[in-house]
Amino acid sequence: MLARQKTTPPGGAEPLPKGDYARLFEEARRRTADLVAPVSEDDMERVHNPLMSPLVWDIGHIAAFEDLWICQHLGKLEPLHPELAEVYDATETPRKDRGTLPFLRLSDAWDYMAEVRARTLSVLDRYEGDSFIWEMVLEHEHQHNETMLQALQLAPAGVYFPPSHRLAASPDEAAEPPERVLIEAGPFLMGDPGVGFAYDNERPQHEVTLRAFEIDRSPVTVGAFREFVEEGGYERRDWWSDEGWLWREAEGVERPLYWTEDGGQRFFDAVEPLDPALPVMHVSFHEAQAYAEYRGRRLPSEPEWEKAAAWDPRRGEHRRHPWGDSEPDWGRANLDQFSFRPDAVGAHAAGDSAYGVSGLEGDCWEWTASEFHGYPGFRAYPYSEYSEIFFGGPYRVLRGGSWATRPRVVRTTFRNWDHPQRRQIFSGFRCANDVES
Ligand code: AVJ
Ligand code: FE
Repeated sequence: MLARQKTTPPGGAEPLPKGDYARLFEEARRRTADLVAPVSEDDMERVHNPLMSPLVWDIGHIAAFEDLWICQHLGKLEPLHPELAEVYDATETPRKDRGTLPFLRLSDAWDYMAEVRARTLSVLDRYEGDSFIWEMVLEHEHQHNETMLQALQLAPAGVYFPPSHRLAASPDEAAEPPERVLIEAGPFLMGDPGVGFAYDNERPQHEVTLRAFEIDRSPVTVGAFREFVEEGGYERRDWWSDEGWLWREAEGVERPLYWTEDGGQRFFDAVEPLDPALPVMHVSFHEAQAYAEYRGRRLPSEPEWEKAAAWDPRRGEHRRHPWGDSEPDWGRANLDQFSFRPDAVGAHAAGDSAYGVSGLEGDCWEWTASEFHGYPGFRAYPYSEYSEIFFGGPYRVLRGGSWATRPRVVRTTFRNWDHPQRRQIFSGFRCANDVES
């Protein structure tokens, strides 16, 4: 992986605050270690599901990525273990085959991580330049924490006992259909304005003009989705797309992943009764689309989602977060105060966007109707394997970030993508519709 273009980094170009990054890297590593501390060595090294790498691969991969970009690229050091470059290159081996790779065993992987980190800190000491690559490597480790949680949730009960299981309080009234918010017709600026860090795929910022539409104030709840299931949602061919129905038939899907036949939902080691107030999660794009059709609605497009989340129509300004520019603070706490699940829909009114749309960041990823493409004027930076090689593929874009996403990664411009049939991601959705204008 080589830098294709040496252009100015998209944001994150301010001089590196070294003390901050030493602390941020340390915090990221502590979280990685804490997350998997309860997992046995066998379960770290096992492939629990072909969709995900063995967890120990993620450990080595996080270290190899840090060695590549900090030690080799910025620090001009030789690779610490050249023979591992291929093993930990995500583009070399698909996840389903990663179990067969000669990856390091668990204690060697932790050692490798620590050795790379020592080199990283020496590079930090003598580094003079901007923060882009540092922030990219930091966010990369954060992103892999979520990948690891997906793998742990996919593993059978018994593999992972989260360090904490604080039950989020939920209102007990029945789920009401969410209110709709009108977003008026007109132009807005889409994409990252280039002030803070953003990936290449979030840029450049460009003007997009949309028709008027309505979008749900909140993500679709478990309670609302259960109505779809009870009304034969998984049997009614007419609510599904052709591709969605083929998938549903082939896989025999009858309910969201982790819902049980008798009305429960599994959270890692514990099966609990369905909580109607939580956002529905672990649905594929196809299920989201079928649900929307059943309600006579549709999924929002990516620009619609971003306008509803980021645009302040009174000031004509783009916000980094729905509520403004201050950083989100969830998930910073130690793991013993971490709930390992989303909060009830509507629990965080202070997080509303300028249009009054709720729950956009931090509970579940939200499927959009859009395929993954580069914005007009896109330039790969600093390597095309982060996003460019996925453009035009079979993916759909998800927006917003889940409870499992570290807050530093979440912003209104962040673009996630996955195959439309995937459900291991912490994915929900909200509905939208056209309005006459
Ligand atoms: C942005 C979540 C699709 O996991 O494939 C991690 C993030 N890129 N390492 C992925 C990523 C390189 C990426 N997603
Ligand atoms: Fe990665």
